[in-house]
Amino acid sequence: HGTSQINAAGRLEIGGCDTAELTAQFGTPLYVFDEELIRRRCREFVEAFRATGLPFQVAYASKAFCVMAMCRIAEEEGLSLDVVSDGELYTALRAGFPPERIHFHGNNKTPEEIEMALDAKIGCIVVDNFMELHLLNETAKDKGAVINVLFRVTPGVEAHTHEFISTGQTDTKFGFDIGNGSAFEAIREAASMQNVNILGVHSHIGSQIFEVDGFRLAAERVAEFAQDVRRELSVTFAVINLGGGFGIRYVEEDSPLPLARYVQAITDSIQSLFAQYEYPQPEIWIEPGRSIVGDAGTTLYTIGSSKNIPGVRKYVSVDGGMTDNPRPALYDAKYEAMLANRAKDPNEETVSVAGKCCETGDMLIWDLELPVTRAGDTLAVSCTGAYNYSMASNYNRLRRPAVVFVRDGEADLVVRRETFEDVAGKDALPERMRKQP
Ligand code: LLP
Repeated sequence: HGTSQINAAGRLEIGGCDTAELTAQFGTPLYVFDEELIRRRCREFVEAFRATGLPFQVAYASKAFCVMAMCRIAEEEGLSLDVVSDGELYTALRAGFPPERIHFHGNNKTPEEIEMALDAKIGCIVVDNFMELHLLNETAKDKGAVINVLFRVTPGVEAHTHEFISTGQTDTKFGFDIGNGSAFEAIREAASMQNVNILGVHSHIGSQIFEVDGFRLAAERVAEFAQDVRRELSVTFAVINLGGGFGIRYVEEDSPLPLARYVQAITDSIQSLFAQYEYPQPEIWIEPGRSIVGDAGTTLYTIGSSKNIPGVRKYVSVDGGMTDNPRPALYDAKYEAMLANRAKDPNEETVSVAGKCCETGDMLIWDLELPVTRAGDTLAVSCTGAYNYSMASNYNRLRRPAVVFVRDGEADLVVRRETFEDVAGKDALPERMRKQP
């Protein structure tokens, strides 16, 4: 991927940095991000939209990987930012991300989060439910503000990796259903509110999607809905946001499309549908997360113990696991890996890579072909950029790894490794439990 290659010493190099030097300098486990590849993915989206000549916004879904340096890259590449919590909003603001380019999502925004978003004067709030709509209007009124809103609607399309399911009524915690009229009702109510400004609608049909059909169908449902709303409520949407979910290749079998193809399918559908309805061309927004950072991330681990069960399986353990990458345990997600320090050695055995957490389910990869490994070798697991650091935990009181960005032979620390103090320093001992000196 990207700027990775095997160097003359037979070691994996990412962004011009030898992984042996990275592990020596920063330790393991270590998340390494290829900065050029992140920027390339941002540009693929932006350029695909520019080619259409239509108005657009690409918002990076920060839930995939939200650290200050990533917010800066998104800003520098001209992206907007989707946040889903006060913590993500805080990170973005702290990184100096322009508030007017921030969108706030979530099905249960707290009153404090709504206040924080209004005080920061963010670009828009994606309203999820009636309670939030009322709270938002009231809070904005108190502050003398008018806030732009999108309505999260469920178009009755649910996309999975290869197929999409079209369901009449969607059973999901998110958003307003189009099918049962609640989306229409929400907009009818909002139209009479003084402190919300209706920008348009938002739909997100799933994640790690390989096909465009689901997006096309969602576009159809949304366009039809826009038409109904315009006719009956005289409300015209200026923005249609079709969410994220564009798939990436984790393993050989995965077959994602080039990112531009998703953009083309979405812009083609929206443009032709709205033209057909003689509806003013809306801005088209998308919110990719995984497809921007997923394949730019590699996790480096040090191999430790191994256990060979003759005739059954060989387990090789690494110094991280479900704490830094919970996706295999949570979703049965598949990953590929290689020996970073002996990248040219031929594969000679099949091993299963175990994490170091105290539970059987802590397995990173089953049946991986590798050279015969030794304790001290470095294992590089690829495509760990999305939903790894952002979902990492301190289970077993492990310290979260450091994150480095590499580019042109330089490595910059963007998150330092946690210390024991980070792990245990928040604990408090009640007076009665303290030991006498
Ligand atoms: N927009 C909305 C409203 C979303 O809910 C999501 C993801 C995205 C955008 C970005 O989707 P992406 O382009 O990254 O697929 N933890 C799971 C993924 C959860 C995705 C949740 N929503 C995983 O590790 O696979």
